[in-house]
Amino acid sequence: MSYRIAPSLLSADFAKLGQEVTQVIAAGADWIHFDVMDNHYVPNLTIGPLVCEAIRPHTTAPIDVHLMVKPVDRIVPDFAKAGADIITFHPEASEHVDRTLGLIRDSGCKAGLVFNPATPLNWMDYVMDKLDVVLLMSVNPGFGGQSFIPGTLDKLREARAKIDAYTARTGRQILLEVDGGVKVDNIAQIAAAGADTFVAGSAVFGAPCDSDPNRYDTVMGKFRKALAG
Ligand code: DX5
Ligand code: ZN
Repeated sequence: MSYRIAPSLLSADFAKLGQEVTQVIAAGADWIHFDVMDNHYVPNLTIGPLVCEAIRPHTTAPIDVHLMVKPVDRIVPDFAKAGADIITFHPEASEHVDRTLGLIRDSGCKAGLVFNPATPLNWMDYVMDKLDVVLLMSVNPGFGGQSFIPGTLDKLREARAKIDAYTARTGRQILLEVDGGVKVDNIAQIAAAGADTFVAGSAVFGAPCDSDPNRYDTVMGKFRKALAG
C-alpha cells in the first residue's frame, strides 16, 4: 500500500503561503490540500483560484482542491486554469453530480466526491467510472483543528470494500482520502481502516518552532513512521 500525505493550507501562515508550500513539500509531503470555503455551503470563507494560481509556481506537487462551495460548476474551470490537479466537491452542493464529475475531468483534472459525516456512501455507486478520489470527511467541514469522528473508521472500511470490489472488476484505481482530525497518534488506525491518502492541517502547520526552516520534517517523519507500523 502506498500512502499520500496532503497537508491542508488552511492551517498554514497565509502571509507566506509560497514558502509554506515549498517547505512542507521539501519535508516529504505528497500533495497540497487546498480548502475552498464560500460562507454559504460552509460557515467560513477562505481562498479561491487566484491563490491557487499564486502558489502553483512554488511546487510541482499535485494541488488537491477541496471545494466546499455551492454552486460547484461555475468555479471548476477557474481552478483548472489556476493549476489544480485534483478537484473534489460535496454531492449535496451540486444539482447534477454526474455532470460536475464530467466537467472536472473534461477540464483536465482528476475528480472526486466528498462525503460529510452524515452523507451516505451510495452517492458513489453509479459514478464509480468518473471517480479518481473518494474523500471521507472525519469532521464537519468548515474549520481546521476539530477532533476526528470515530464513526469514520467503519465508514472507511465500507468505502474500502466498495472501491476494492470496483478495482477487482475493472482494474481501475480510486484513491480513498480522509480529511479532519488526522494526527500522528491516530493515522495508523485510520490507515488500517482503509484510507490511503491523509489530509492533515493543524497537525502539520501547527507544529512548534516557527523559525526553524526544517520544522515540518519532524511531523512528516512521525507520520511516515506511524504508517510504516
Ligand atoms: C475542514 C477542511 C480540512 C481541514 C483539516 O473543513 O476540509 O481540510 O483543514 O484540518 P485539521 O487537520 O486541523 O482537522
Ligand atoms: Zn479539506
